[in-house]
Amino acid sequence: MKVLIVGSGGREHAIATSVAKSPKVDKIYCAPGNAGIAALAECVPIGAMEFDKLVTFSKEKSIDLVIVGMDDPLVGGLVDALEAAGIRAFGPRKNAAILEGSKAFSKDLMKKYNIPTAAYENFDDAEAAKEYLKTKAEFPIVLKADGLALGKGVLICNTLEEALAGVDTIMTDKKFGSAGNRMVIEEFMTGREVSVLSYVDGKTIKIMSSAQDHKRAKDGDQGLNTGGMGNFSPSPFYTAEVDAFCRKYIYQPTVDAMAAEGRPFKGVIFFGLMLTPKGPRVLEYNARFGDPEAQVVLPRMKNDMIDVVNACIDGTLDQVDLQFEDNAAVCVVLASDGYPVKYEKGFPITGLEAFEGKEDYFCFHAGTKFDADGRIVTNGGRVLGITALGRDLKEARAKAYEATEWVQFDNKYMRHDIGKAIDEA
Ligand code: AMP
Ligand code: GLY
Repeated sequence: MKVLIVGSGGREHAIATSVAKSPKVDKIYCAPGNAGIAALAECVPIGAMEFDKLVTFSKEKSIDLVIVGMDDPLVGGLVDALEAAGIRAFGPRKNAAILEGSKAFSKDLMKKYNIPTAAYENFDDAEAAKEYLKTKAEFPIVLKADGLALGKGVLICNTLEEALAGVDTIMTDKKFGSAGNRMVIEEFMTGREVSVLSYVDGKTIKIMSSAQDHKRAKDGDQGLNTGGMGNFSPSPFYTAEVDAFCRKYIYQPTVDAMAAEGRPFKGVIFFGLMLTPKGPRVLEYNARFGDPEAQVVLPRMKNDMIDVVNACIDGTLDQVDLQFEDNAAVCVVLASDGYPVKYEKGFPITGLEAFEGKEDYFCFHAGTKFDADGRIVTNGGRVLGITALGRDLKEARAKAYEATEWVQFDNKYMRHDIGKAIDEA
């Protein structure tokens, strides 16, 4: 098989690593990829939003399967464009990727089908939103831009003044662009956050192992929200009781709701959950693997990823016995100092060869590229994701932090408390 992976981050490197293990795969391409993915795949300089070029390339190379890693092309309809050209693709169509693409849609879906989530109202008018805040709201309160905003379109406001300013930020000043044409105002919830990834074939859902992300830039969950500074899998807080509740009230009901709406979902649903004192609630849905969730979940998956992906596309997921190793993984992100605001790029990265031939350690590239001299250099805010496997979370964490010392680059920055919650379990 020839497989094309669309995307350029650590998630796509983790996907490529899993795909490369399949004996069914002869050749992997990645568009546009990065310097780490280039060790497994031929990287082609086509952007993830260049649908026409991706379709033409897939036809020219007789690609058997396209795996779309990123949210923007999914929400924009890349899978529809590929399918229209007769190319097999993994990921939701546009009408299903809206589960991530519009928070107002996903909130309405949850309300209609009684899927537990925070109470909310949708607004497409700033004045109406402000009126609601002045008359009906309790604080703190959460404001969310409707559309994709790189995980940054959520404002938690402690006072009415902050919330009124937040409405202007989202809807009037359009800080998150057209994502702020509509917004959701929702109840503030408290509890631990857990990420659960799943494979879905339109009707059947198979749950992967759980994970826990660290979204803030600095130790102690201080600093700005980022794409994710590290994580671990499984989450010790995702108990059998939580799992049973979510299977009954959240996972299958979401898949059934999408099918009932005429939007059958095929691909990966990422459930962002909050374990509140009243039980698990959905914080958000994503229509793809998480980044860096993929970097801790996929290395633990026993199945041939191609078999699972094919079953999702063919609607035969009920016949797949999805299995994970009885171990644990921790990923620590090595970022460029200053991320997520302002940071320099182009610094050479040394020590990468230390990962060669080590089965328990992975160095997933996120923002890297080859410079004119062929050296691997930093090329983004999140540069590398260092993942280690261990018999348990503590061992995996110790190994991951040990491996963060193997690589060096100027302005290397990481959190030192990834997986601290393990000690509280
Ligand atoms: P989201 O992009 O919806 O996952 O939101 C980003 C982050 O904002 C989440 O990971 C939570 O930490 C926080 N958040 C979102 N919604 C709520 C809520 N209703 N109550 C409390 N925190 C929230
Ligand atoms: N790590 C969170 C996300 O991928 O959205």
